[in-house]
Amino acid sequence: MPGFEAIDSREKKALNNLFREGGTLMAHGFQKLRKKYHVREFESACEKYFGVKKALAVTSGTAGIKIALRALNIKRGDEVITQSFNFIATIEAILDIGAKPIIVNVNETLNMSPDELSKKITKKTKAVIPVHMLGVSAEMDQIIRICKKKKVPVIEDNCEAIGGKYNNKFLGAVGDVGIFSFDHGKIITTGEGGMLLTNNKSIDKISREYHDHGHENNSKYNRGNDTKKIYGFNYRMTEMQGAIGKVQLSKLKWIIRQNRVRFKILSDKLNKKYNLRKIPKKSIPNFDTFILFEKNFKIRRKIINVLKKNSLGTKNLPDAIKWHCSYYWSHAISKQEVRNSLKTKKILKSAIAVPILIKKRASLYSKIAKEIFNIKS
Ligand SMILES: Cc1ncc(COP(=O)(O)O)c(C=O)c1O
Repeated sequence: MPGFEAIDSREKKALNNLFREGGTLMAHGFQKLRKKYHVREFESACEKYFGVKKALAVTSGTAGIKIALRALNIKRGDEVITQSFNFIATIEAILDIGAKPIIVNVNETLNMSPDELSKKITKKTKAVIPVHMLGVSAEMDQIIRICKKKKVPVIEDNCEAIGGKYNNKFLGAVGDVGIFSFDHGKIITTGEGGMLLTNNKSIDKISREYHDHGHENNSKYNRGNDTKKIYGFNYRMTEMQGAIGKVQLSKLKWIIRQNRVRFKILSDKLNKKYNLRKIPKKSIPNFDTFILFEKNFKIRRKIINVLKKNSLGTKNLPDAIKWHCSYYWSHAISKQEVRNSLKTKKILKSAIAVPILIKKRASLYSKIAKEIFNIKS
């Protein structure tokens, strides 16, 4: 479920307090004018929670992916591999840095197929971006093994699976860099916003400088006299977002617990009648989306009607498939990559994604599970 559902007086109080603590000041500098650094506190809280050495708050998930590519020195003409079931932001970040997106299809996990990755990775590949779509991790052991062999860094696009785990590590802390999005639809939200996680000192240093006009934030100098080695851009998170982010993060565990109850109701009942999305062995999802597959058009229509009738609708599949499948992105990728994505379009065509919402009672999910189950009785 998206974090906006959990917004209550605590986020509002944090915002009100902010205006006594420095208000709309930038995330960095201006020590004498402020009582707090909200963005920096949010970064520290993320480092602790997700178990990484460094977390950098940025304006969005899209910006985070671009910054990661910049920090890895991806250049014009380099190839970057990502996946076909995705959000266009990943492709846009690759294009914005001047690189060429190469598409790998997804398998029944609905994430990057390691088999296809091993066939597509070449000397031209300078980074691989697996995307943990709709709450569930990619098969990271296999992906990392393939990339290590070729000495290619892995950027996890973890915009959609914050709080999920793989092999007991939080997603975003598994590859060389991990990216979160906190936009309105995500499991925790700051309205817009993102976070870049890494244990690599050099990636952190370049990212930090690049996201803030090259500022080294050298504590010996005030901001006006700060030192710089590279030019950058402005991808800074605002203090307002930082203040909200801290509160939202403190609710993440609870949100996932609530999601899990509803997800389990659906999966326990429906696995007897439908093919469900395959969850990799070492993966613990954040349970914010439940996905089943049904090829029969009439049955699909009936399932979607049950969801509509119960005021749930579907989540991206099938309603926004064109925003999430590279088969439809001829405006951004080559004809060849579009053609290569056909396999994924076929897989996604039979998928129905049920949003898990915590403002909806668990009993509603029991009712829905029963109604969808009965369609095939
Ligand atoms: C998989 C994925 N990557 C990247 C993004 C981009 O995040 P943002 O909206 O914060 O730019 C999103 C957002 O929807 C996403 O779902």
